[in-house]
Amino acid sequence: MTSVGSDRWASGAGYDAFVGRWSRLVAPGFLAWLGVAPGGRWLDVGCGTGTFACQLAQSGRVVLGLDPASAMLDVARTKPGAEFVRWIHGDTRALPALRVDAATMTGNVAQVFVTDDEWAATLGAIRQALRPGGHLVFETRVPEDRAWRRWTPEESRTRVEIPGVGTVDSWVEVTEVRGPLVSFRSVFVFEGDRAVLTSESTLRFRSRDEWTASLSEADFTVQEVRDAPDRPGREFVVVAQRPG
Ligand SMILES: C[S@@+](CC[C@H](N)C(=O)[O-])C[C@H]1O[C@@H](n2cnc3c(N)ncnc32)[C@H](O)[C@@H]1O
Repeated sequence: MTSVGSDRWASGAGYDAFVGRWSRLVAPGFLAWLGVAPGGRWLDVGCGTGTFACQLAQSGRVVLGLDPASAMLDVARTKPGAEFVRWIHGDTRALPALRVDAATMTGNVAQVFVTDDEWAATLGAIRQALRPGGHLVFETRVPEDRAWRRWTPEESRTRVEIPGVGTVDSWVEVTEVRGPLVSFRSVFVFEGDRAVLTSESTLRFRSRDEWTASLSEADFTVQEVRDAPDRPGREFVVVAQRPG
C-alpha cells in the first residue's frame, strides 16, 4: 500500500465524486427571496469545485468564485458555465474592490476558519465586498448535533465507481477533538492498485451565540436563520445583511 498526501485528485475530482452536491441554497424560491435577480453580482467564497458558482452563472448572475485550493479551481474550470465565472485563486485577501449583491459560503466553508482572527478578517473582507444592503449567506454545522460522532470508518464508508479511475473506497476518521476544534482524516483507497490517498483537516464548530456575536462585531445584521431542509437539526443556514 502506498500512502501519499492530499493531491489534485483528493482535493478536486475526489471531492466531487464523494462530497460534491447541489447546494441547498438553491432551494426553490431562495434566490428570488434574496432578491438577486439575473444580472445581479455574486461572490462565492470557498467555491471549491465550483458547482454552485457555475449554476449561478448559468442562471444569469455575474459570479466570482474564490478558493485558495488551485486543485479545486482546476476542476471548477471544466464545468458547464465555468466560462461565465471569474475565478480568483486565494483567500479573501486576494479580492479586488467589489460591490456585490450577495456573498455565500456553502458546504460549511465558515468552519475552515479555525482562529478568531481568520474568521473576523474573512467576515470583514466580505462585508467590504458587499454593497450596502447586500446579503451574506452561509451554512454551518450545529455543534450540539456533534456530527463528528458519525465520522467513523463504519458510518462514513462510501464506495464509488468512477469512470477512468475504477472503484474507490473512502471514509473519514476523527483524529482529535479539542474544544470546538475537530480534526479528521479523509482516506481514499483505489481498489485497482490499492493506492491510498489521505488528507487531514480541522474544522471549528462555533455555537450560535459565537457566530451571532462575530457577525455583529463585523457589522452584519442577522436577518434569518433557517434549518437545512435536507438535514433538519444538523446545520444552520444563516442570512446576514450589511446594513443599508
Ligand atoms: C467543504 S469545501 C466546500 C466547497 C464548496 N463551497 C461546496 O459547497 O462544495 C471547503 C472549501 O473551503 C476552501 N477554503 C479553505 N480555506 C479557505 C480560506 N481561507 N478562504 C476561502 N476558502 C477556503 C477549501 O479550499 C474548500 O474548497
